[in-house]
Amino acid sequence: MKTLSPSILAADLLNLGNEIKKIEASGSKYVHIDIMDGVFVPNISFGMPIISAVRKCTDLILDVHLMITQPDKYLQACIDCGADIITFHLEALNREEIISACDFIHSKGKKVGISIKPNTQYTEIVPYLQYIDMVLVMTVEPGFGGQSFMHQMVDKVIAIRNINADIDIEVDGGINSETIKLVNEAGANIFVLGTAFFKSSKDISVEELLDE
Ligand code: DX5
Ligand code: ZN
Repeated sequence: MKTLSPSILAADLLNLGNEIKKIEASGSKYVHIDIMDGVFVPNISFGMPIISAVRKCTDLILDVHLMITQPDKYLQACIDCGADIITFHLEALNREEIISACDFIHSKGKKVGISIKPNTQYTEIVPYLQYIDMVLVMTVEPGFGGQSFMHQMVDKVIAIRNINADIDIEVDGGINSETIKLVNEAGANIFVLGTAFFKSSKDISVEELLDE
């Protein structure tokens, strides 16, 4: 399955209900919600109230990206607010905490993603592929929308896809109508778009972007 996951970090938050309707109209199946704590990344975005507000206005899959320290402390809260997929960063937990977080999220019937920063080698995530539903390959340094795509991350997507043909690979950061072609070709199947979705002059559709 291929889909977009538009990031509401780039949305007009004063008009969030209509922005979610735009996501629905595009044919996207996911809403990407970037939670930042100002510690794990040098920026603060929003938290649980926004997850709950989005939950109230759509049935789309809520794809929550935790760019926070101690993500294992906030899993139940994310689930209570309506998250469907919870992605935390490999760099934020040790092996034992990672496996226990995966078990906990699955025990609640939700999906698990692990995200890796650009400087984290893909080999570091390989031992965890058996515990997760999705790998989130950051194609920018996490913390801000509107950054330029890091082309050297394409090889990371290819490498992970070569190891596991079925796992969902989400790419996140600087994805637009041009760069999506590179990561789609490399084997990614879930595409986060912030700026390219909400700041573009024309409406975006999954079919158009992915030439489906
Ligand atoms: C960055 C976030 C991304 C970002 C994407 O730390 O994880 O989801 O919002 O925004 P664009 O598509 O503008 O790079
Ligand atoms: Zn994100």
